[in-house]
Amino acid sequence: MLLRVLLVALSLQLCASTDTITPSSPLRAGDVLTSKAGKFTLGFFSPGNTTRRYVGIWFTKVSVLTAVWVANRDRPIYGSNGTLSIIEGGHLTLTSGKTVAWSTNISVPVSLNKTNSTSCQLLDSGNLVLTADNGKTLLWQSFDHLTDTFLPGMTLGLDKRTGLNRYLTSWRSKDDPRSGKYTFQVDPKGSPQFFLYHGSDLIWRTGPWVGQKWSGVPDMTHAYIFNYSFVSNANEVSVTYNLLSDSIITIFSVDGLTGTVQRQTWHENTKHWTKFWSAPKELCDQYGECGPFGNCNPNGGNQFQCTCYPGYKPKSPRDWYLRDGSAGCVRKENRSMCRNGEGFLKLASVKLPDTSKAVVNKSSTLKQCEQECLKNCSCVGYTSADDSGGGSGCISLYGQLMDTRMYPSGGQDVYFRADAVELERQEEAERSLWTKDAEESDASSELPFFTRSEIAAATDNFSMANKLGEGGFGSVYKGRMENGQEIAVKKLAPNSGQGIQEFKNEVRLIAKLQHRNLVKMLGCCIRGDEKMLIYEFMPNKSLDYFIFNEENKLSLDWNKRFDIIMGIARGMLYLHQDSRLRIIHRDMKASNVLLDKDMVPKISDFGMARIFGNEQVQVNTTRVVGTYGYMAPEYALEGLMSVKSDVFSFGVLLLEIITGRKNSGFYHDNPSINLVGHVWELWKEGKSSEIVDPSLKDADIEELLICIQTGLLCVQECADDRPTMSAVVFMLNNKVELPSPNQPAFIHKGRQQDADPSSSSAGAYSVNELSITSMIDG
Ligand SMILES: *[C@@H]1O[C@H](CO)[C@@H](O)[C@H](O)[C@H]1NC(C)=O
Ligand SMILES: *[C@@H]1O[C@H](CO)[C@@H](O)[C@H](O)[C@H]1NC(C)=O
Ligand SMILES: *[C@@H]1O[C@H](CO)[C@@H](O)[C@H](O)[C@H]1NC(C)=O
Ligand SMILES: *[C@@H]1O[C@H](CO)[C@@H](O)[C@H](O)[C@H]1NC(C)=O
Ligand SMILES: *[C@@H]1O[C@H](CO)[C@@H](O)[C@H](O)[C@H]1NC(C)=O
Ligand SMILES: *[C@@H]1O[C@H](CO)[C@@H](O)[C@H](O)[C@H]1NC(C)=O
Ligand SMILES: *[C@@H]1O[C@H](CO)[C@@H](O)[C@H](O)[C@H]1NC(C)=O
Ligand SMILES: *[C@@H]1O[C@H](CO)[C@@H](O)[C@H](O)[C@H]1NC(C)=O
Ligand SMILES: *[C@@H]1O[C@H](CO)[C@@H](O)[C@H](O)[C@H]1NC(C)=O
Ligand SMILES: *[C@@H]1O[C@H](CO)[C@@H](O)[C@H](O)[C@H]1NC(C)=O
Ligand SMILES: *[C@@H]1O[C@H](CO)[C@@H](O)[C@H](O)[C@H]1NC(C)=O
Ligand SMILES: *[C@@H]1O[C@H](CO)[C@@H](O)[C@H](O)[C@H]1NC(C)=O
Repeated sequence: MLLRVLLVALSLQLCASTDTITPSSPLRAGDVLTSKAGKFTLGFFSPGNTTRRYVGIWFTKVSVLTAVWVANRDRPIYGSNGTLSIIEGGHLTLTSGKTVAWSTNISVPVSLNKTNSTSCQLLDSGNLVLTADNGKTLLWQSFDHLTDTFLPGMTLGLDKRTGLNRYLTSWRSKDDPRSGKYTFQVDPKGSPQFFLYHGSDLIWRTGPWVGQKWSGVPDMTHAYIFNYSFVSNANEVSVTYNLLSDSIITIFSVDGLTGTVQRQTWHENTKHWTKFWSAPKELCDQYGECGPFGNCNPNGGNQFQCTCYPGYKPKSPRDWYLRDGSAGCVRKENRSMCRNGEGFLKLASVKLPDTSKAVVNKSSTLKQCEQECLKNCSCVGYTSADDSGGGSGCISLYGQLMDTRMYPSGGQDVYFRADAVELERQEEAERSLWTKDAEESDASSELPFFTRSEIAAATDNFSMANKLGEGGFGSVYKGRMENGQEIAVKKLAPNSGQGIQEFKNEVRLIAKLQHRNLVKMLGCCIRGDEKMLIYEFMPNKSLDYFIFNEENKLSLDWNKRFDIIMGIARGMLYLHQDSRLRIIHRDMKASNVLLDKDMVPKISDFGMARIFGNEQVQVNTTRVVGTYGYMAPEYALEGLMSVKSDVFSFGVLLLEIITGRKNSGFYHDNPSINLVGHVWELWKEGKSSEIVDPSLKDADIEELLICIQTGLLCVQECADDRPTMSAVVFMLNNKVELPSPNQPAFIHKGRQQDADPSSSSAGAYSVNELSITSMIDG
């Protein structure tokens, strides 16, 4: 122990270093610069097993050496010597023996007599700055010469005055920092966008900045972790960001190995970089996947993902039917669209087509935008320039509309020019605008189909003794197959609103979803109208059996509960983001979280919305399916469903796990308030730890408070304010400072809310239990 302390003290001694290079004190191989607060280190390093040596900057505290900047990336040095020094003229130069490997090459050299007042300092932002006149004149900075990493505080983009273009270039490989093929840079034309290139090929585009996010990054809705700002004016087009909490370590970089741009966050407890986000993620993200006037639909199941804009047909039918959509679409009929009764049709919830030929007018309304576009016959479409807060401003589109794709949520509406005949036709066909046509053949099924007699035998003819429960979607039975494997059989309620073929397609897709925190689907069984899904059996029942029972809850200590919370969050993240299908669960609750023999949580009933066809998810409050107490207000009241309504349910569940109380069954001394409302009241008074389940004596209080606050962020009234599941996973994993939540939805039941003029909009959601129940039943 003592030895260990000594070693640590010794290594601290060795590491004690300066943050500055001066003409009289160069940096030699083996020495490092450390920024003032110790965040960043600059020194010599060799990536991987190589003997090539580079000068770079890395995070001091990240134990996996991660160079965020490299000086001599294209000219490594060999051998153990090397010096980084300030030479005459004020240049910062890296030499090895007589070879100059790298130099700042500033355009106006410093006069001889000033060289001595030149110095080079590593700042806590990770920026290496070279200054003259004792810091008064900036000569050069590493933030102007990016390698593959975009750090907080950096600026990415074009300075139109000087022509300086700051962009990212990938490494060749994990241990070779030489400039690779992938770059990420701004295209300032039209409405500016950032592009990921491979050489000169376009791979992916962010789309234009539409107020608070890129059109092509729809999950970037709220600043929980990062605060991005985008500037586009006569002087520059650029983006920069900072972190809302200083303790977060995160990088955005171009990865040459996967050909993606990605954001990773450092998780100190596991000592790993974790992928937070990346693009392109799926086929529809590939630039021009469906060509001009084609729209890419990632949720088409087995269908070809490309569709033509209404009124358009594949330009090259042969390629199209061979599932190559890159030639795109052309108009079905060549009717004039110039002062000939033409108008506009809407593409809903899409990534805006390439705006490099677009014209932006920030002071125009959408109506004026339409009028202006109609007047100019070469204008092919329009949309809002700022999609936040209901939309404002105008983007007029010209040329071919390229690289459009659909989003399950967070997309923007685009209006494109169509002739009079087409307008009429579409009006009729409106309802079936985007429904898929041909049904897929049944060939090459990978999912086992069980016979009904096999299942009947396994469940004793669906005997009452084997019945495990009944849910919104049908009844569940326990069974044992001939080979001894235990299964759970879900007999679906009739009227799933789907044909057999569609059902099979959906089941096949959903069976492909595999994650440690999802219950595994083993197969299905269909006979006549009867449909069954076969799952692996979970011996430890569901979460509600434990957390809501005074005795059973004792077997879940805080560490177990925290693991369960993390598991559920990861499972949901997979459903929302990482799986190919982007599934909205829409009935997240304690009884839908099953526990395996090791008490690992497994989400069940996912994909039910897909299996049950789409009509139940439409805006029709009388058919909303869900469970009172877990439903987001916009879903319960308007039937609006999104990943954010799932996040709401997760938030409720999280608070239930911590408190051991049901949201809907909670009656404290004040019968008019539910659990969420109660937690909120206590949180406002700084007393939220009082609500924690008394059986959690062992809890890490800091972790608990982060969980409570995360829960409250998830149940905020406004869906846009709620974090995404990736942000939730991040918050739970990292003890970072979280923003303050706004008032949650549904906190009062029955009783009139206290008059509070500042929260008048909240009143709209103050609905009592009875009315919600009757809406569901009715
Ligand atoms: C690098 O070194 C490690 C351990 O010394 C070894 O396992 C690995 O195979 C080496 N990698 C390469 C690419 O040589
Ligand atoms: C490295 O430096 C040492 C001392 O400065 C010198 O003796 C040696 O020859 C140098 N090695 C190389 C490869 O330049
Ligand atoms: C230094 O910069 C000048 C222009 O500023 C350029 O012409 C020259 O090639 C550069 N030299 C090196 C070694 O990069
Ligand atoms: C530094 O050099 C410039 C010319 O190179 C001269 O004009 C100036 O007076 C000198 N300054 C000092 C402090 O020597
Ligand atoms: C700059 O430093 C060099 C070497 O340290 C010294 O010889 C020279 O006199 C200094 N010049 C000035 C102007 O201080
Ligand atoms: C976010 O950035 C903007 C502009 O850079 C700044 O005005 C604002 O204060 C920042 N917000 C936070 C919470 O850091
Ligand atoms: C469409 O019609 C215009 C004139 O109305 C003609 O100039 C053009 O060539 C036609 N295009 C095609 C593809 O037929
Ligand atoms: C922007 O739109 C408004 C309203 O349509 C119009 O008055 C104004 O002239 C437009 N500005 C430009 C630069 O076109
Ligand atoms: C139509 O708009 C384009 C792009 O703004 C412009 O170049 C062209 O002159 C306009 N045509 C007419 C007739 O106004
Ligand atoms: C199940 O039902 C079938 C006919 O409905 C019957 O022949 C069979 O014996 C039953 N099996 C059991 C285990 O009850
Ligand atoms: C979970 O199931 C396993 C295997 O059935 C059992 O040994 C264990 O005691 C159960 N755990 C709890 C907390 O009930
Ligand atoms: C809503 O659902 C009810 C009951 O299924 C049905 O009668 C009604 O027509 C639906 N309304 C709409 C607008 O679809």
